[in-house]
Amino acid sequence: MEIQIAYYSQLPERRGQAITVDGLEIALFRLTNGEVKAIENKSPHPKGGVLSEGLVSGDFVYCPLYDWKISLQDGIVQAPDKGVVRTFPVLVEEDFVYIRL
Ligand code: FES
Repeated sequence: MEIQIAYYSQLPERRGQAITVDGLEIALFRLTNGEVKAIENKSPHPKGGVLSEGLVSGDFVYCPLYDWKISLQDGIVQAPDKGVVRTFPVLVEEDFVYIRL
């Protein structure tokens, strides 16, 4: 199912936005290339850092707590760390941003 979650024009570039859909905490990111990415708003690290507060660089977000580097394309934690964050397909139509759950 697709749910409208944001307006594209209101998403800040390279800054995470936390939203809740169906009790799920999701972090939305608008990248410098214009793409919008959605991942679960929680680091897979045992401390579970809030990823929407992380620093974005290119296709990656750095967890604000211990700086794990996480791909916004597939959610994979980059070596030497390990793990994966759930990602969600995003659709942008005109100014509407949808997420597929
Ligand atoms: S909580 Fe994210 S790297 Fe530790």
